[in-house]
Amino acid sequence: MRWTTAKVRQSFLDFFAARGHTIVPSASLIPKGDPSLLFTNAGMVQFKDYFLGVRTPQHLRVADCQKCLRISGKHNDLEAVGRDTYHHTFFEMLGNWSFGDYYKEEAIRWHWELITGDWEIDPKLLYATVHKDDKEAEDIWLKMGVLPRERILRFGDKDNFWEMGETGPCGPNSEISIDRGKGACKPEKNHAGQKCFVNVDGCERFIEIGNLVFIQYNRDASGALMPLAKKHVDTGTGLERTAAALQSIETGKILGNYDIDLFQTIIHKIEQAAQKFGDKARYGKNEESDVSFRAIADHARTMTFLIADGVIPGNSDREYVLRRIIRRAARHGRYLGIHRAFLAMAHAGVVEAMGDGYPEIKAAASKTAEIITQEESRFGETLDRGLELIDTELARIKKSGGHTVPGEVAFKLYDTYGFPLDLTEDVLRNHSIDVDVAGFDRLMDEQKERGRAARKDDAGAPEISLGAGTASRFVGYHRYEGESEVLAAGGKDGEHVAIVVAETPFYPEGGGQVGDRGVIETASGAILEVSDTRKADGSIVHVGRILRGDANDFRVGARVKLKIDRIRRDAAMLNHSATHILHYALRDILGNTVHQAGSLVDPDKLRFDFAHTGPVKDDALATIEEEINARIRENAEVTTDEMAYDDAIKAGALAFFGDKYGDRVRVVRMGDFSVELCGGTHISRTGDVGMFKLEAESGVAAGVRRIEAMTGNGALETIRKREKFLEEIGAQLGARDGAAVERLEKLLAREKELEKKLRAMEQKLAAGGGAGGAEAEEQVRDAGGVKVVTRKLDGVDPRTMREMADRMRQKHGSCVVALGSDLGEGKVALLVAVTADLTAKIKAGDIIKNIAPIVGGTGGGRPDLAQAGGRDASKLDEALSKVATLVQ
Ligand code: SER
Repeated sequence: MRWTTAKVRQSFLDFFAARGHTIVPSASLIPKGDPSLLFTNAGMVQFKDYFLGVRTPQHLRVADCQKCLRISGKHNDLEAVGRDTYHHTFFEMLGNWSFGDYYKEEAIRWHWELITGDWEIDPKLLYATVHKDDKEAEDIWLKMGVLPRERILRFGDKDNFWEMGETGPCGPNSEISIDRGKGACKPEKNHAGQKCFVNVDGCERFIEIGNLVFIQYNRDASGALMPLAKKHVDTGTGLERTAAALQSIETGKILGNYDIDLFQTIIHKIEQAAQKFGDKARYGKNEESDVSFRAIADHARTMTFLIADGVIPGNSDREYVLRRIIRRAARHGRYLGIHRAFLAMAHAGVVEAMGDGYPEIKAAASKTAEIITQEESRFGETLDRGLELIDTELARIKKSGGHTVPGEVAFKLYDTYGFPLDLTEDVLRNHSIDVDVAGFDRLMDEQKERGRAARKDDAGAPEISLGAGTASRFVGYHRYEGESEVLAAGGKDGEHVAIVVAETPFYPEGGGQVGDRGVIETASGAILEVSDTRKADGSIVHVGRILRGDANDFRVGARVKLKIDRIRRDAAMLNHSATHILHYALRDILGNTVHQAGSLVDPDKLRFDFAHTGPVKDDALATIEEEINARIRENAEVTTDEMAYDDAIKAGALAFFGDKYGDRVRVVRMGDFSVELCGGTHISRTGDVGMFKLEAESGVAAGVRRIEAMTGNGALETIRKREKFLEEIGAQLGARDGAAVERLEKLLAREKELEKKLRAMEQKLAAGGGAGGAEAEEQVRDAGGVKVVTRKLDGVDPRTMREMADRMRQKHGSCVVALGSDLGEGKVALLVAVTADLTAKIKAGDIIKNIAPIVGGTGGGRPDLAQAGGRDASKLDEALSKVATLVQ
């Protein structure tokens, strides 16, 4: 094949490189430093700041192939995926950019040259569109004289004005579409009989293969269009649809996007899964299973690339998008008859088809497969039951002639069976049935409310209202003391009070690090003991109790001296710096998909939660601990800088979606290994941490692990404490170190054995001596007026026999008891006991001497109790029955 997808990609880049464009790599699917976007949804996302004039580009002409995801927000194609042949959630966008350099004319001319020249597409198949008010663009097309007037079409904002999101750079555009021939669209199916044409929604015959946007505005938060200082070009060409068009021309067949070489590699893998585990469907044979093939192929790409860019399945933001995609794909697997995890196979197809162009998916392949399979298997447990519930519900609705699934059912599917709402809707769409979304939302809100109520119990937080105008400044990065003036005060005498001062060395809780404690004093000797420091609306609030003086001493305007608890701060500081080193080490050793999910830094220890599937193995934990301690011994310099957020991100600083950062941020660097955005307090060299000791690794939620650790003196104390435990254990066992372990192993083995015996015995006793077995029940006989009680036992040892004899004597009162037990391995035991009232006439010792020989043994004892051993278990009955005769 001449126009393989790889060739199309390369030819685009070569074309623009030859026209002065610098080729740049694709940016991550996770936009860096753009909280307005969940995912990179267009090639221009990484260049947004150049358009806005916030940053200055290095090159004025750039071209690339950008991985894009259209699955949320303004550009969301999820619902169309699979149902037609050209929509995707994940796709590759070819683009060329001019940052204030060339404009409409070159953009249009070059694309025409590329499409009709290099790609040799017949101009007769092509159409151009322009915005109805963009006379300039229309004139350029007319002047070029390459298309007849009737194939230069005008459209309004809906079709010819492009915007990246609710806000951001935008402008009118000009698009180039190709007519793929009559057979490419089924109007009756795709757009309800409407005539096939350019910009008819759902028409698969006229497909846009070039979108040239002339960026000249910024849509601001109020919705207004603000002209930009410079005019720019942003073009987008879908790689898959272009390859489909070229491969169709080449083969003479009408091929959809999913028929191109790249997708066939993926679909082939899905066919293999269907062969092996499913109903053996093949692509292209049946429209219904084709929808599933396409959806799985699309979703496999999305999950592969998302995971490689550091997203893991979960319940918030991006994580939930990934979870939904995996679950939807798993559901399509069921439609191909596959009732087990199989998506790792589709993922392998993606890596095979695209790994050369995107090394990140190759590098993350085994981990990605693991994450996908884990999520898929977990959902697999409830997927079938959920689908059953939907079937039942469908039957009910069809019978009653309704059209809507109640919110309760959708909520149950969500809450109990893990069906994201969009998945339920997707399943129902085939049946033209809706979900009562409002009802579903209400139940969701109620559940959230219950969760909030449960969390409300924020113990000990004093209710303090502060005056306005209380912005304060933290000056305590390198100071433990300071002087300032009270700006606001609240609370009552005898209770917690709160004060805000202009400048404070007290660190307010933030970035996981706990707030400082200490004292605030006045010149008159009043003392406020600060038990916590927090942030509230730009102020730093000190909370505590007045130890001397009263609230009046700390009124607004009072001069105060502030002193923090230095030991506590220093200890917290070590833990905070160690947290950065830990974060680095986790990413270094477990991979870049690890990212922080939560952190607590207090003086005693640090706790770090991070995204990772499955427990961290012991040897990896050991390596992590070693790496951290090596970095500590390296004694690397720790530096902090204030800079613009964008510069920090450019410098590779770790920042997290969902965290709020201002325009200027603080960047903390350690040696050459760690760069993080952080407002916390830190040591000046990594050696200050002294030592790092892992305390525990555990799971806190699906896909989230927790590490707890100690540093400095805390680490030393932990080790000492453990040593002490070991010593105590050694002392108890009477052995040390290796010998203690051996000893313990023996004890445990013995305990196990004893437990087994005990259980067996208990069972026997409970069964009343095992009727029908070797044991027998008590036999009570009268021997000349004396009660004789005998019992044959199995495996009961002599000591237990004595206990049993005691109980039997108590139970029967005046009597003679005789017990015989088969101890196994050719050994037997006999016991005779006589109650005190009878010992004058009947002596246990005498009886035993007479019966022991019957079982081949000897024995003797006191008048009230005698025991004997023997070797012939088959004679036990005979020996016992002789007792009555002897007594008589
Ligand atoms: N931004 C436009 C698009 O995404 C052109 O690149 O289609």
